Amino acid sequence: MQNLVADKIGMIYKLPDGGSVEALKDVSFSLDRGRILTLLGPSGCGKTTLLNILAGFLAPTSGKAILQGSEIDGPGQDRGMVFQQGALFEWLSVAENVGFGPKMNGRSSSDTKKIVDDLLSTVGLGGFGDKAVYELSGGMQQRVALARCLANDPELILMDEPLGALDALTREKMQGLILKLWNETGKTVILVTHSVEEALFLGDKLFVMAPRPGRIEKEYELPFAKMGLTEDPRKLKTSAEFIDKREEILSLIWEMEEEIMGRRGEVV
Ligand SMILES: Nc1ncnc2c1ncn2[C@@H]1O[C@H](COP(=O)(O)OP(=O)(O)O)[C@@H](O)[C@H]1O
Ligand SMILES: [Mg+2]
Repeated sequence: MQNLVADKIGMIYKLPDGGSVEALKDVSFSLDRGRILTLLGPSGCGKTTLLNILAGFLAPTSGKAILQGSEIDGPGQDRGMVFQQGALFEWLSVAENVGFGPKMNGRSSSDTKKIVDDLLSTVGLGGFGDKAVYELSGGMQQRVALARCLANDPELILMDEPLGALDALTREKMQGLILKLWNETGKTVILVTHSVEEALFLGDKLFVMAPRPGRIEKEYELPFAKMGLTEDPRKLKTSAEFIDKREEILSLIWEMEEEIMGRRGEVV
């Protein structure tokens, strides 16, 4: 079932000096419910702009996005956003952070407690509810951010480089957690990453985006996210199939970078 449709989305930012930036041009795609899409591409190709439009934080200058048949025209509970870091409420405990949405929605305190307890154990933080946010490591804070997003039971989860600030080992563990949550909840997920490996591993669909104007350059349908639910991630990431795709995408991105820099063939 088609869950999300992007229909020729365009975004032109006006600059104070009178100029403008075409951050997105004619971005069109549709995504079935329960897919996990990764967005990969050089800085400035409009990834964050696209997520912000889908979240309803920004209105596109042309085209539209439709979620479950309704045009997105502002923020809503059917969408949840996870940022790179720093989006938790520092003055609230872990449990209060996760329970914030349900509480605001008027859920009873016993309902909220149940949602919070279940989600904290799902993200591996059972027993951490009373901790302050600053007591947690970066990886644990991102677990809280995932739990807080899920607590609102959104239809579509948007993640903007959610693992970008983590060390390599934590990042790898968190990739496994994201796949587990995706599989268990059946949510539709769109995840932005700078890492080719992460985009390949987490996306059952992947868009390589290109800048100026920001657009979808190439689309892939991939088997690795599903395989990663049962197979050893290290083995998967070192398989011939994975490495072939990684090299293909890396060369595509290198070509783009060279074009952007206008330095084809020059040693830098
Ligand atoms: N608020 C803004 N005003 C003007 N230009 C912007 C604004 N936000 C983003 N841009 C420009 O739009 C382009 C896309 O930005 P962004 O969506 O942040 O890309 P990405 O997340 O892929 O790095 C960039 O050239 C950026 O400088
Ligand atoms: Mg960005």
